[in-house]
Amino acid sequence: MNLRIPGPTPVPREVAEAGAAEMINHRGPEFAELIQRCIAGAKQVYQTQRDLVILTTSGTGGMEAAVANHVSPGERVLVVTIGVFGKRFVELVQAYGGQPVELAFDFGTAADPNRIDAALATDPELRTVLVTHNETSTGVTNPLAEIARAVKGRDRLLIVDAISSLSSIDVRVDEWDLDVVVSGSQKGWMVAPGLAFVSMSPRAWEVQARCATPRYYFDLRRHQVSAERGQTPWTPAVPLFFQLDAALPMLFAEGMPNVFARHHRHAERVREGVRALGLELFAAEGHRSDTVTAIKVPEGIEGSAITRTARTDFKTVFAGGQGSLTGKIFRFGHLGWVTDADVEAGLDAIERTLAKLGFTAPARA
Ligand SMILES: Cc1ncc(COP(=O)(O)O)c(C=O)c1O
Repeated sequence: MNLRIPGPTPVPREVAEAGAAEMINHRGPEFAELIQRCIAGAKQVYQTQRDLVILTTSGTGGMEAAVANHVSPGERVLVVTIGVFGKRFVELVQAYGGQPVELAFDFGTAADPNRIDAALATDPELRTVLVTHNETSTGVTNPLAEIARAVKGRDRLLIVDAISSLSSIDVRVDEWDLDVVVSGSQKGWMVAPGLAFVSMSPRAWEVQARCATPRYYFDLRRHQVSAERGQTPWTPAVPLFFQLDAALPMLFAEGMPNVFARHHRHAERVREGVRALGLELFAAEGHRSDTVTAIKVPEGIEGSAITRTARTDFKTVFAGGQGSLTGKIFRFGHLGWVTDADVEAGLDAIERTLAKLGFTAPARA
């Protein structure tokens, strides 16, 4: 199967096999060395010298940790949304008793840093901003450096969901002064699902210490204190740490700038190939993601027929649309362990699927 969804992504054989190694004591010296290597490697990918913890949970667990440690009950926070995953931050803030003030942009477009700046300027009570870097549901990448400049210019805390970008797209945590940044193992990291990464700035720790929200499993201070002793507070998913320890050297052998360049090259090829088939891209020009491409379902064809036919007839798995985009778009994932051949095979599968479904591209002007 050519797994062309935006996560879980394919896991290289050596990474998968590393996960099958004999179990070790998670309170013993082998694990202490393992987690320290993993944290050091993850910090390198994050381009940060700040604290970083690795949680046994999916990406949403990392988002939940960010909210539970930094948003107090009753607190009003700005949540910038451009799609389904931004709305998840809204729901999480509500679940923990905070009051989300949503600044919503149309699906398919990116957030405008000037409007974020204006929202913060008129409402000094909003001390924290939550934003999605790469909106996997729409295939849009937000201009994070500019957003960070706006938020930091107003001296606020910035929490970023970089789950489907960090490790595939350049995210400069320290240079851009991002306070809390979440990522997830099943995306560009080339590891199976189940680990979330959370980095924390000194300012984030100050807010964390004051935050009145109850927390236990996801108490980031406990995770940091344990990490300094080469442990996790609770039993970790040891096989996923083995996998991460095998995947990180692969990323570094390629070189992170080359990893980012490869993702950009593949994304450009997918965008060009899809348009050559007479299809339209969903995301606005200039903000299209280098990890996932959202493609409009052409008129007269059922969205679910595309993903079903591609899977059953052409052994290629694409993702459908989520939420209000169900049936309107399908998504081509090109993040993580992806070769030129995988991209070409994905494009070929789209072409054959459409032919089978009787789609003829409109004549192009
Ligand atoms: C941008 C973004 N945020 C959050 C999530 C949620 O992560 P998980 O499904 O690992 O909980 C995902 C994963 O699909 C994502 O792409």
